[in-house]
Amino acid sequence: MNIVSRTIGFESSSSPVLLGEKDISLPLADDYVVVELDAMSLNPVDMKIKSMRLFSGNYAAGRDFTGTITHVAANLQEKYNVGDKVSGCLHSMFPKGFVGSYTLVNVQADSLVPVPSQFSSIEAAAFPLVFLTAWEMLEDAFIDPKKPVLVLGGATAVGTMTIQLLKLKYNAEHVVATCSPRSSDYVKSFGADETIDYTSDLQGKLRHYASSQGKFCSILDAVGGREVACIAGHILHGSDGKFNFLSVAGDGSKSEKYALNLGTVTGGFTMLGRSMLGRFWGVRYKLVRANNSWMDEGSKFLRDTTIKVPIDSVYPYEDALKAWDKVESMRARGKVVVEFKAVDE
Ligand SMILES: NC(=O)c1ccc[n+]([C@@H]2O[C@H](COP(=O)([O-])OP(=O)(O)OC[C@H]3O[C@@H](n4cnc5c(N)ncnc54)[C@H](OP(=O)(O)O)[C@@H]3O)[C@@H](O)[C@H]2O)c1
Repeated sequence: MNIVSRTIGFESSSSPVLLGEKDISLPLADDYVVVELDAMSLNPVDMKIKSMRLFSGNYAAGRDFTGTITHVAANLQEKYNVGDKVSGCLHSMFPKGFVGSYTLVNVQADSLVPVPSQFSSIEAAAFPLVFLTAWEMLEDAFIDPKKPVLVLGGATAVGTMTIQLLKLKYNAEHVVATCSPRSSDYVKSFGADETIDYTSDLQGKLRHYASSQGKFCSILDAVGGREVACIAGHILHGSDGKFNFLSVAGDGSKSEKYALNLGTVTGGFTMLGRSMLGRFWGVRYKLVRANNSWMDEGSKFLRDTTIKVPIDSVYPYEDALKAWDKVESMRARGKVVVEFKAVDE
């Protein structure tokens, strides 16, 4: 017997994004559960994966989601129950499961947590990837609460989570974030003390800030590019054995269109190198993985605090291609969520 899952997917970098279907075979192999989704998110990483996908194959886009467990592999039946409400996130570039109206999750490789009770189903589908990314990036950062800390891309969904964690978990007193003028109030609403407009002379403004207000204890990058890395030595305090320039976006510029080009391919290798050698090489690239610390400590933290989940827009599944376009526009302010439940009801 098979379960038919509705998906948002593509064949390769050059093929169109389409609504489609994928099958899940039953009984499930060890370590898998199936989740019937209320909602899922689309993220910039889906565009990046499409741009790097040279070979054909039915790929279902999507990383984070929320829904109800409908099937559990025989070896997991002590830990998971049919009917459990969960949020989750797939991690691998080439996941063993996939996201769709029925989502196949490998619990060894991916993250699955009980839905934080205060979240709506939209928020529950939107927080996992960006919360975890910010959480993990900060675990490797050096945060001195008294010194300014710089977030590149304060209006990105990862940036808003990073700012909130800096305030709520690390007690940072001076959070400075880059964003465009349209987003300044928005970024401050998540706790940033000051914003810097990145659209003109960013290097000059950062140098001026560091010489007048003090150097940054860490730079946390959710944008990518080399513009700030080039002047890091002038605006950062010396490292304390910790990596203090961390990037989750790599060397590619945020303003580059997601397209297959030499830069995408070499950029992938550069990111891999930075993730392994960043300790010796300056900017350290963080690639988020399944991590039990976030499932335990992060879930507890979410229960005990009031993290705001930034939502840009919500689309019914039948309009999922519009959701794709919104993420690809790079103008989304918050997460772009696709709802299955609204279509099913
Ligand atoms: N390493 C990992 O495991 C991992 C995990 C998750 C995400 N990521 C990466 O993290 C990055 C952020 O993802 P996201 O989903 O948070 O992005 P997002 O929410 O889609 O970011 C959109 C926002 O970016 C801002 N922006 C655009 N260009 C900018 C620039 N040059 N400087 C500062 N802000 C700029 C825009 O706001 P304004 O222009 O109005 O300021 C826009 O609202 C992506 O590159 C993504 O691939 C990596």
